[in-house]
Amino acid sequence: MSKELIHIIDTNEERTEHIKTVLSFMGYQVTTHSSCEQAEGKIDGFAIIVGYCEDLGDQRAFVSKLSEQVPSMPILMLNDTLEQPVMMGDELKNVIGELALPLQHGQLANTLHQAELFKESFSKASDQRPVELFRSLVGNSRPIQVVRTMIQQVAESDANVLVLGDSGTGKEVVARNVHYYSKRRNKPFVPINCGAIPPDLLESELFGHEKGAFTGAISTRKGRFEMAEGGTLFLDEIGDMSMPMQVKLLRVLQERVFERVGGSKTIKVDVRIVAATHRNLEDAITTEKFREDLFYRLNVFPINMPCLSERQEDIPLLIEDLIKRIEHENRGSVRLTPTAVLAMCRYRWPGNVRELANMIERLAIIKPYGVADASDLPEKMQVQSGEPMEMSDFIPSAELPQLGAQAVMPDALPTAQQVSDSIAEINGAHIPTDGMDLKQHLADLESQLIQQALEETDGVVAHAARLLNMRRTTLVEKIRKYGLQKTDEVAEI
Ligand SMILES: Nc1ncnc2c1ncn2[C@@H]1O[C@H](COP(=O)(O)OP(=O)(O)OP(=O)(O)O)[C@@H](O)[C@H]1O
Ligand SMILES: [Mg+2]
Repeated sequence: MSKELIHIIDTNEERTEHIKTVLSFMGYQVTTHSSCEQAEGKIDGFAIIVGYCEDLGDQRAFVSKLSEQVPSMPILMLNDTLEQPVMMGDELKNVIGELALPLQHGQLANTLHQAELFKESFSKASDQRPVELFRSLVGNSRPIQVVRTMIQQVAESDANVLVLGDSGTGKEVVARNVHYYSKRRNKPFVPINCGAIPPDLLESELFGHEKGAFTGAISTRKGRFEMAEGGTLFLDEIGDMSMPMQVKLLRVLQERVFERVGGSKTIKVDVRIVAATHRNLEDAITTEKFREDLFYRLNVFPINMPCLSERQEDIPLLIEDLIKRIEHENRGSVRLTPTAVLAMCRYRWPGNVRELANMIERLAIIKPYGVADASDLPEKMQVQSGEPMEMSDFIPSAELPQLGAQAVMPDALPTAQQVSDSIAEINGAHIPTDGMDLKQHLADLESQLIQQALEETDGVVAHAARLLNMRRTTLVEKIRKYGLQKTDEVAEI
């Protein structure tokens, strides 16, 4: 089946024939134009390769015009014919690379892949909706499934929710999800970072103020409580709130009423509270930095966000989601080789998902529309636990994609399931979401390990038994049980 159409604009027949042959071989349709005039108005399809034509005039001006006419088509420049260094990254955004002749398969495949990404991101950008503030909670790991269930359980009620977890684990994502799944979803979700606002301003920020309440209060202003009426107020970094403010907050939580700063009118509010902190509030209570009564008010339904290192199997899914996010926001794109993904799965991510998100952004900048390998990652991620990393650590060799320098393509990205299974194998086992037959699983594992031991000892049962630290007679029994090798075929010493 023919892939999409590539146009070549170049007068040199020998060159165009060479390129056409290679591209046709790769399954592309090719149309050649020996002059710019001939190409005029006929360009539509997957990509354009621009070389040299007699009527080209100023190469830059020609490409610039072409870009305007077909802004969504990636343009590749023929390196031999370049009048000046390739014009990438400036206003000619769709010039995505150059091709050197004679064509090298690896370079060509990578460049065409970049072209594909460019096209994809362009088509996504054109039907772009405003950036959604709500993000779904990505992940299939058990800890994240537990969180998802808790969100659904609590969302319907009006109970206060306290989200706990280290920095960058996704506490705000949880808060937004609680709001989104509640009956308040069409009303405002109002976040406020209690740690970032100076204590003396926090009160008016939360409750608003009347005109003249303090120097600078030139007009009456609503606070976040009023803004969130009918919706959800997200009190982020609640552990950083000063003691006097905690008293004021407690009152609103108890009585559902407050007054603006400098005002005497009591205002009633219907607001659902979701609070979050990375601090250990119980410790803060013992050191008298947090009020116990406020803690119990907020802690009606606690949700603990796991650290990313506790849900490594979600990393490939998160990477996919974070790349989609960058594409959706039209901020470029990037793909990762399996080795890069696996290195990232092994890293501990002290900054959690936020750190991962920053890493993906960084890769999209250093490898725009390209393929990032493990060597593009910071040193700390490249080798963990003192051992060089082998792909076969993770994925059975039969399923390993070709990883020659030239063949690194996005299809090679291991599936989330592959990585998750491989990580589970390394870290111990995990229970599949649909349950398992433990007895059968252990029997299979035992049989595999015995088979392996026999192979490693050339079938010498006594040696295999030593390797497995079991009695020879027990091993012979098991070999018979699993039908691995009949005892008479096994060399017995
Ligand atoms: N499960 C997830 N799925 C998708 N994106 C996530 C997930 N968890 C976190 N993120 C992303 O990671 C970043 C950090 O998340 P968030 O701001 O919710 O963390 P936080 O726990 O509030 O961090 P901090 O304590 O630093 O404020 C955000 O860009 C968020 O969109
Ligand atoms: Mg936060």
